[in-house]
Amino acid sequence: MRIRFVLNGKPVETDVSPGQTVLEFLRARGIHSVKYGCDKGECGACTVLVDGKAQNACLMLVHTINNKTIETVDSLADRHHLHPIQREFLERGAVQCGYCTPGMILAAEALYREDPHPDEAAVRDALAGNLCRCTGYVKPVEAVRK
Ligand code: FES
Ligand code: FES
Repeated sequence: MRIRFVLNGKPVETDVSPGQTVLEFLRARGIHSVKYGCDKGECGACTVLVDGKAQNACLMLVHTINNKTIETVDSLADRHHLHPIQREFLERGAVQCGYCTPGMILAAEALYREDPHPDEAAVRDALAGNLCRCTGYVKPVEAVRK
């Protein structure tokens, strides 16, 4: 099946296998910032933005992104500057092993696009689908709020 979509700002037209997930597809294209975690929609490690909304790539079949816009964390920074959420994660020590970090940052980015002034409850709610085994959430929540 042939699909077209925009990936990190660049148009893509490609053949895909009907049973392939977006997670499998992106990683096969070398986009390893989209992490392979539970593969069941429970950990958020595979979070991507689909038309600006945070979604679990492991639960989406790739043909469903036809004519949509997909963003991974790779699209947030430019060559010279980190995205502000990335910078705060680093400066506040909100990254340990880093496996959950791309998904958390994308979940936070989706929140800020909808609500530029979220309170702590909104930040915690936005990150609730992103499990972290290392940091205990205090520092990620602080980083996103900052
Ligand atoms: S790998 Fe997709 S939610 Fe865990
Ligand atoms: S930093 Fe290790 S899982 Fe979150």
